Amino acid sequence: MVKIAPSILSADFADLKNEIIKLDEAGADLIHIDVMDGNFVPNLTIGPAVVKAIRPYTKLLFDVHLMVKNPDDMIPWFANAGADIITVHAEVCPHLDKTLAAIHKLGKKAGVSLNPSTPESVLEYVLDNLDLILVMTVNPGFGGQEFMENQLSKIAKIREMIGSKPILLEVDGGINALSGAEAIAAGADILVAGTAVFSGGDYRSNIEALR
Ligand code: DX5
Ligand code: ZN
Repeated sequence: MVKIAPSILSADFADLKNEIIKLDEAGADLIHIDVMDGNFVPNLTIGPAVVKAIRPYTKLLFDVHLMVKNPDDMIPWFANAGADIITVHAEVCPHLDKTLAAIHKLGKKAGVSLNPSTPESVLEYVLDNLDLILVMTVNPGFGGQEFMENQLSKIAKIREMIGSKPILLEVDGGINALSGAEAIAAGADILVAGTAVFSGGDYRSNIEALR
């Protein structure tokens, strides 16, 4: 079954506690948390204090997407704040294997994300050391951008690379009912969606529509 991970980047930040509770009640599978540092991407969003503050309001897994230049420094902060999955960008990890091991050492699941211009080949030698691959289908930084169709072939190639390994394949950016179906057909397991989940305010039907 397709899993839906609403991105709280599109939530009402003034009411984050209730937004989390509503997403949980609406049938979300994971909570996707977009951490941006104003450096790796041109936007500044959520820090560990916020993750810690919302942690008591759901048992759903916190899927923390680190769009930051120095993830090694920040991994322990988010692990202590209550992250369950910590995903780093391959583009900023010269010692990717070591970074993934550091996440595992903290008892968390480790993910690797690829920008649209990054080839899937960077994953080849870390495939046995990760739990999740996150394919960006927009250039990271903002919600509400258009899905990049040219990433579908990358999703399909990664699905093939994964084979029978226990690795989740997640897609993030511009996901709606149509692009979501394309991503799933190409091999994705988890759809991240901000705009599509939050628009109109009926989170349950929006999540069902994506599923
Ligand atoms: C983009 C973020 C996404 C984004 C998705 O930089 O990583 O998670 O919030 O938002 P939508 O679904 O609106 O593209
Ligand atoms: Zn994200």
